[in-house]
Formats: sequence, C-alpha cells, structure tokens
Amino acid sequence: MRRYALIGRKLSHSFSKRYFTKKFDAEGIDACYELIELEDIASLRDVVTSDSCIYGLNVTIPYKQTIMPLLDEIQEEARAVGAVNCISVESGHMVGHNTDIEGIAATLDRLGVEDVHGALVLGTGGASKAVGYVLRQRDIPYHTISRSGQRGDFTYNNLPHEVIANNHLIINTTPLGMYPDVESLPAIDFSAIGSNHTIFDLVYNPAPTLFMRRCEERGAKVIGGGLMLVTQAEASWRIWEGRSVR
Ligand SMILES: NC(=O)c1ccc[n+]([C@@H]2O[C@H](COP(=O)([O-])OP(=O)(O)OC[C@H]3O[C@@H](n4cnc5c(N)ncnc54)[C@H](OP(=O)(O)O)[C@@H]3O)[C@@H](O)[C@H]2O)c1
Repeated sequence: MRRYALIGRKLSHSFSKRYFTKKFDAEGIDACYELIELEDIASLRDVVTSDSCIYGLNVTIPYKQTIMPLLDEIQEEARAVGAVNCISVESGHMVGHNTDIEGIAATLDRLGVEDVHGALVLGTGGASKAVGYVLRQRDIPYHTISRSGQRGDFTYNNLPHEVIANNHLIINTTPLGMYPDVESLPAIDFSAIGSNHTIFDLVYNPAPTLFMRRCEERGAKVIGGGLMLVTQAEASWRIWEGRSVR
C-alpha cells in the first residue's frame, strides 16, 4: 500500500489526514495518509529511506523552509518562493514543490482581482512569501506588514489609514484568529476598510474568522482559506500521481 504523510512538529489537528483518508476511501485508492511528528527535521532522510512505501509528503509549520537543504531537488517555483509544502518521493529521491502557490492563485481567481492596483500582506512567514510570489506574477504591487520594522514595509503601529484605504486587497497570512485563538485578529484600523476592499484570510478554521467578519461589516468582500486548502491538497495529489510538473 502506498503511504503519504504530513511532516510537522505538532500535528494533532490535521486537515490533510482527514481530507486524504476520505478521498482514498471515496475513490477506492489503495493508500493511506499518516501524520509524522518530527522533533528535528534532520531525521527526514531516515524516515524516507526506512520506508520504501512512502511516495509523497506534505510539510507544515515549522519546516517549510528548513526542509529545503535536505531535499535532492527543488522545483523552480518552490525555490523562487523559498518554501516547500509538498515532496514527491521516488526510490528515496525527494523533490520539493510549493502547492500553496496554486491554492493562492485559485483563491485570487475566485475573488476576481483584475482591477486591484495595490495589496497589503499581513505577516512575513512562509505563506506570505508564496502570496508575494503570486502577486508579483499578477503585477499587483504590495506592502508587507509585520510586527517588526526589520521584516515588513510597515508595522501594525505605523500603518497609515490612507495606506489601508488605498490598497484594496488585504491578505492575512498570520495565524491570528485561528482555532482555538478565535478572538484574535490583526491590529489594523478597520475604519479604513470599505466596500472597495477584498479580503483573503488564509486561516481556514473557523470560517469565517473574526477578521473576515469585521471587514465584512465594513462592506468588504471576504474569502477564507478553505478553497486554498483543498486546492493545494489536490495539487499535491496530482504531483504524487505524476500528473503535474509543478
Ligand atoms: N489555507 C491554507 O491552505 C493555508 C496554507 C498555508 C498556511 N495557512 C495559514 O497561514 C498562516 C501562516 O502560515 P505560515 O506557514 O506562513 O506560518 P509562519 O511561517 O509561522 O508565518 C506566520 C507569520 O505571521 C506573523 N505572525 C505570527 N504570529 C503572529 C501574531 N501573534 N501576531 C501578528 N502576526 C503574527 C509573523 O510575521 P511577523 O513576525 O513579520 O509579524 C509570521 O512570520 C497559518 O494560520 C496557516 O494555517 C493556510
């Protein structure tokens, strides 16, 4: 039986395991999807070489970047983003991919952002880098917002009202609002949000998040991380099945 797994440090709540287990059942695929918690990512190769039935892996926090030097090859887009969330394995040879890109692109397509001339990206981690990659592909200029002046173009404390008002696409890539911390949200000036705004919150649980609700109350169009999640999972499956060059 082919085995697939999610690699991370703490994995008690996994969408991927539920998603793939249900998919394998529904489609009669003779495979299983497991959770592999690694205290130290350096043990990745031991895990893969000790089990010839592993054909594919997903990668989550905190290993999307630190896993890269341990791989045999990295696909071009994943290298450009600087993060890997999917690995295909063939005879122990590991190739890194980034399927978050496809999930982000699908969500922006669903939102219809052709008329957007500026974006704000909240957070500067792995998902933020994938978001930045897709925005650059679409020629949408953007500013990053960070808790630290060293990492972003603005901090939450010095983010002017006009910058929020004039950048009509706002993408939350921070974990703020994610279960169980559902009452937290990015500290921006919500009075600058209006009906010209489109909000994409990568957080998928709960749906909607408090951030989405606050923006929707101001007239903004909102979408959560659910579509991205399913799209990146299906993109991973296509890679493992050898049906995609990504
Ligand atoms: N829907 C999907 O398919 C999907 C896919 C990938 C990720 N996600 C979600 O996206 C989120 C980020 O994932 P990631 O992999 O990019 O994580 P990450 O690498 O840890 O980055 C998160 C970033 O958010 C900011 N941040 C962290 N804690 C914060 C806090 N308490 N207050 C304000 N900002 C904070 C940080 O930026 P600064 O230090 O610069 O402030 C950090 O770099 C997670 O909630 C994850 O579940 C969803």
